[in-house]
Amino acid sequence: MESRYPSESRTILTDLVLPGETNPLNNLFGGELLARMDRAAGIAAGRHSRRIVVTASVNHVAFSKAIPLGSVVTVEAKVSRAFKSSMEVVIDVWIEDRQTGDKTKANEAIYTFVAVNESGSPVSVPPIKPETELEQQRYDAALRRKQLSLVLAGKMKPNDATELKALFV
Ligand SMILES: CC(C)(COP(=O)(O)OP(=O)(O)OC[C@H]1O[C@@H](n2cnc3c(N)ncnc32)[C@H](O)[C@@H]1OP(=O)(O)O)[C@@H](O)C(=O)NCCC(=O)NCCS
Repeated sequence: MESRYPSESRTILTDLVLPGETNPLNNLFGGELLARMDRAAGIAAGRHSRRIVVTASVNHVAFSKAIPLGSVVTVEAKVSRAFKSSMEVVIDVWIEDRQTGDKTKANEAIYTFVAVNESGSPVSVPPIKPETELEQQRYDAALRRKQLSLVLAGKMKPNDATELKALFV
């Protein structure tokens, strides 16, 4: 299978924060942001694999900054690494200042998607070739994160997580 670049999967969703999407402090409800990130990441994984994709796990979410009512929110998702049937997708969330247009990073997350056939069984995806320094860093760290996620899910024995163990020895 021919490899693809992370930029080919880049997906950007821009939307407002409306009153029905906020918590009692008038900030964006966390579940709404998770849904927006899942949607953007799913499109990115689909662009990379050109297959049906399902969310296999949410590996990391950092709600670093509250996002106030009325904000213009941009969710940017890109596949950082492709394995056999799974893909790691990194999501960056930005808030746009409506007057200056300046963007501030608000949150980030890492999701894992799996490409499946019509019966829901995993199928192979194309490899990925990082181009930029940041893409290379994210690619290099993705195997550790995959192993951590599998260990936490009880799908890998800690002893087999060689890449992860290498961090500590
Ligand atoms: C995701 C799913 C397809 C995995 O199926 P499975 O039978 O466990 O398949 P496998 O064990 O062969 O795993 C398939 C791939 O997923 C990866 N994977 C599975 N669970 C994972 C986890 N918790 N974290 C990271 N990767 C995971 C495996 O490592 C494997 O990757 P690889 O092929 O690139 O090496 C299956 O669990 C599923 O359909 N889940 C429901 C998905 C869904 O409905 N999501 C929406 C939320 S409601």
